[in-house]
Amino acid sequence: MSVVGSQQQVFLRLLRQLQPDWRRDFNLPQRIQHLLARERAFGSRDRRLYRELIYTTLRYLPWIEPSLERDPARAAKITAWLAAETRDTRAYRAELCADWPAVSSLAERAKFLEGDASALLPAWFREEYPDVFAPAELEAQLARAPLWLRLQTDDTAGVAADFDVNGWRFAPSSLLPSAWQVLGEVDVTKSSSYANGHLEIQDLGSQLLLETVGVAPGGRWLDACAGAGGKSLQLARLLGSNGQVDAYDIRPAALVELQARAVRARMGNLHPLTQTPAGEYDGVLVDAPCSGSGTWRRSPHLKWVTTPALIAARAELQQKLLSQFAARVRVGGQLVYATCSLSHRENAAVVQAFLAAHREFEVTPFAQTFGFTPSNAGLTLLPARHDTDGFFVASLRRR
Ligand SMILES: C[S@@+](CC[C@H](N)C(=O)[O-])C[C@H]1O[C@@H](n2cnc3c(N)ncnc32)[C@H](O)[C@@H]1O
Repeated sequence: MSVVGSQQQVFLRLLRQLQPDWRRDFNLPQRIQHLLARERAFGSRDRRLYRELIYTTLRYLPWIEPSLERDPARAAKITAWLAAETRDTRAYRAELCADWPAVSSLAERAKFLEGDASALLPAWFREEYPDVFAPAELEAQLARAPLWLRLQTDDTAGVAADFDVNGWRFAPSSLLPSAWQVLGEVDVTKSSSYANGHLEIQDLGSQLLLETVGVAPGGRWLDACAGAGGKSLQLARLLGSNGQVDAYDIRPAALVELQARAVRARMGNLHPLTQTPAGEYDGVLVDAPCSGSGTWRRSPHLKWVTTPALIAARAELQQKLLSQFAARVRVGGQLVYATCSLSHRENAAVVQAFLAAHREFEVTPFAQTFGFTPSNAGLTLLPARHDTDGFFVASLRRR
């Protein structure tokens, strides 16, 4: 059997191991990680190849799953054809798909395979946010997410020199000069710029979010759902050395990681809180736990495990957290609500219900909208326009 022939067999074996869980396990990425790590014969190139093929399967599951039982070789061929062309997939794709046309758009792929492109998102989501079913958004939802960095230093020339030494290419964003897209497959965590805290990995859309609300330097802010601190670090940098961020999360382990990142970045104005937040702040960010429907291209399994019932449960929790942490905003202070979801019930509906119950808060205009049009509740950052994950942000003020 040829090398590619045996790679195809291995790929199908891995798929069979994952199949019982891919419509029910929220932790599928960890399961994939363990599965690939367990295969002792694999080198890093094998792992990257199979990872790409598995993620392609999850992105295009409704087009691939039906062939898996009937005609596994065809399922493997469809997957290879749909997979991104990378240094690790090139030879595999070339051998398996030589007799199929090279196409670049989702519409052409759908036509050739006689598949329905809208079936690649869960049908029930149409009620949550129909705009994601528009052809350009569907295309973006099926794409591989690019790697974005947020520079955390004024010495951008130093980071560029470090990248040059490593032979890495990058492109600064036209929207935000401190956001750099990495071109090609590289592990930036191995760079000295990363070790020195001069950069963090953060999707461009996530970086735009705080820019939309216009954070004034010098304030004292609470990041109430800080996680490991992606946005806390950005907030601390926007506030500057005269400002301060207190970071809270229900998961103490996440705050330990946040502290390590703050130390690496020499961010003296970012402090994890060990107690439930008290007192008043100039600004409060509630980056709420959500369904993650804005991150489907990065975590495609979420399309198949998320249910309308989960969205309802998240919306209830978001409502509770927004009310709880709004109490920490001083009179005249800012309240920012954000999610990485595109679901109406987790976004505008949460804000509208909050405003109806808290007359002391009002919507404030955005500082920048990056081409998106705000509704009366907030701003939705759809993926296609700037090739980002999807986000929602609302900017409120206590009267
Ligand atoms: C969307 S994530 C935050 C991501 C983070 N802000 C970032 O930029 O990387 C939501 C976070 O809310 C936290 N969370 C869930 N329930 C919470 C609660 N009751 N109080 C505070 N944080 C909570 C979760 O642990 C999770 O880290």
